[in-house]
Amino acid sequence: MPVYTVSNVQNIRVCVVMVGLPARGKSFISQKIVRYLSWLSIQAKCFNVGNYRRQHAGAEQPNADFFDFGNKEAYKIRQHAVTMAVEDMMRWFNEKGGVVAILDATNSTSERREWILKLCRENAIEPMFLESWCDDQDLILRNISEVKTTSPDYQGIDPDVATKDFLERISKYESVYEPLDEEVDKDKTFVRLINVAQQVIINRIETYLESRIVFYVMNLHIRPRSIWLSRHGESIYNVEKKIGGDSHLSPRGLQYASKLPELVKRSAGDVDLTVWTSTLVRTGETAQHLPYKQLQWKALDELDAGVCDGMTYEEIEEIYPEDFKARDDNKYEYRYRGGESYRDVVIRLEPIIMELERQENILIITHQAVLRCIYAYFMNVPQEESPWMSIPLHTLIKLEPRAYGTNVTRIKANIPAVSTYKEKGTSQVGESDLNSGNSRSVLTSAPELNEQQEST
Ligand code: SIN
Repeated sequence: MPVYTVSNVQNIRVCVVMVGLPARGKSFISQKIVRYLSWLSIQAKCFNVGNYRRQHAGAEQPNADFFDFGNKEAYKIRQHAVTMAVEDMMRWFNEKGGVVAILDATNSTSERREWILKLCRENAIEPMFLESWCDDQDLILRNISEVKTTSPDYQGIDPDVATKDFLERISKYESVYEPLDEEVDKDKTFVRLINVAQQVIINRIETYLESRIVFYVMNLHIRPRSIWLSRHGESIYNVEKKIGGDSHLSPRGLQYASKLPELVKRSAGDVDLTVWTSTLVRTGETAQHLPYKQLQWKALDELDAGVCDGMTYEEIEEIYPEDFKARDDNKYEYRYRGGESYRDVVIRLEPIIMELERQENILIITHQAVLRCIYAYFMNVPQEESPWMSIPLHTLIKLEPRAYGTNVTRIKANIPAVSTYKEKGTSQVGESDLNSGNSRSVLTSAPELNEQQEST
């Protein structure tokens, strides 16, 4: 499958070198960047030095003394871990066609950064330093609490002991830490995020790819929030098995619209949220009873089926058999004649994702293909799988982004609806037992209002 990247045009490869003390959200930022770029089909990968230290350098759960820069034995092990991470990274660039690597480590001294810079230059890779600097004690404490509960370094360790040890580890790093400096580092490409993105200092960002990464991280926030996703209620076209169009809701779709405020209230409580819909009639009708501020986005309109708009899959198979097969063969890339592909939808959704990152509580009411693309971004679903995910009608999905993944809760309304899911190789809609049991799917009908939880 061709890989389209913004950087191929310029043949640029970038190594984002994270910089910062422990508990400054470096891993969170690293993983977000990888998820965002991968969603845009840019080959990206994170190399976490802590993982190399744990998995390959034999230091699985060291205490704070290990991170003392005077500890010569430990220093050798740490040096070995970073060397392995960098070597793997270079192999990935050179053998796997990598475009953006994130070297997730403290990289807290100038000496370490100069070493990485030199290696990058020798391999024709652009180094971009990304420092997360933070003196907001609340933020740091929140990060410490997240680390002590999620880091393998403290798995099975009493939380109080873990906190004390982690604070000691931070102070070891503080004793040698040299932040990026506007004067000393003026020739380097760098970004300094001060207290998440309260203040951002940008230096020598020269390529389009780098500027996209900077723009993305500037839009991130870490305030707790939720995002709810729902397809519109069942439409007349759904019942008639037609795709596209701009039809009204069916009687059962209208029932879902009436029930949606209760489902949302039950899940969101009293939080204030904003509803985003597409510009199509069926999402507006679905949102009609919701007592929240509403905003319409053209970018949330359903994938444009071009000449096939308004047809059933059976009709498409009969009239455009080659197209029908081509779409089944590569659903992500296939573009309807005069219409769109999933890739096209992802590209038009980028501003939506950027705005979602900036916002807090949002409920999005949109369409099957669009919802699959948004869901794939948050849940890190690979491109080849995302167009085949089953997201049934009359189901509210709650996403809770967390530091290292996203929690998802699916809330099914007790209102039957047709299935609009089409499996590969058939023009019939409806899900086989096999598919409805797969981990990416949500069951269509439920006897009671019920919730399922999972997380990435
Ligand atoms: C680690 O060993 O956990 C990371 C090493 C570092 O980034 O300094």
